[in-house]
Amino acid sequence: MKQPSTEQIVIRQETPADYRAVFDLVSRAFGNAEHADGDEPYLVGRLRKSGAVIEELSLVAEVDGQIAGHILFTEVRAGDTVQLALAPLSVLPVRQNRGIGSLLVNAGHERGKRLGYDYSIVLGNPGYYSRFGYFPAGRIGLKAPFPVPDGCFMVHPLQGKTPVISAIVEYANAFFQKDAC
Ligand SMILES: CC(C)(COP(=O)(O)OP(=O)(O)OC[C@H]1O[C@@H](n2cnc3c(N)ncnc32)[C@H](O)[C@@H]1OP(=O)(O)O)[C@@H](O)C(=O)NCCC(=O)NCCS
Repeated sequence: MKQPSTEQIVIRQETPADYRAVFDLVSRAFGNAEHADGDEPYLVGRLRKSGAVIEELSLVAEVDGQIAGHILFTEVRAGDTVQLALAPLSVLPVRQNRGIGSLLVNAGHERGKRLGYDYSIVLGNPGYYSRFGYFPAGRIGLKAPFPVPDGCFMVHPLQGKTPVISAIVEYANAFFQKDAC
């Protein structure tokens, strides 16, 4: 019989003291992911340096005091609006499928809503992100600035409204500077 978990999961803002553990966590989370290219932990570092990271939206999940999950949202431009991009999201392989990723996504959404953003944008697996209310970004007029598989470029309305934004999303340069870590 499945035993109830006694783990204490705490979601909190990342601090500089977490950077090393987060690098290790992101490396391990993406280590076996089929779409990963090994750049993910360096991307996190570049995004921090770029200023695109919103500190309140750089979150870690601690399980019994150990960092087991991390999520980052950065600002992106979409037409004359500023929205959030969710990337990357990482959970330690040994801690996956216990709801940690969901806790991080939901905590980020709550904070993003409070900060007044209309949308969180993600490039990811619809099988995972649709559970949080993400739907294809094309429905509100948004396009990715690079080729994406059908249905994988998605938005989640944070304020409960779905304003049309006919624009190509402009990501922080750090997303594209893979050799500059
Ligand atoms: C994707 C990831 C963050 C999910 O975190 P998690 O804590 O394991 O997820 P949760 O426990 O909240 O959710 C588990 C559910 O998500 C599903 N799921 C997990 N990864 C998935 C994926 N890549 N695609 C589709 N569904 C996925 C599980 O099958 C499970 O489904 P169920 O609720 O129907 O049983 C984690 O698996 C991870 O770090 N993966 C490697 C890095 C990665 O791919 N990040 C996402 C980049 S967009």
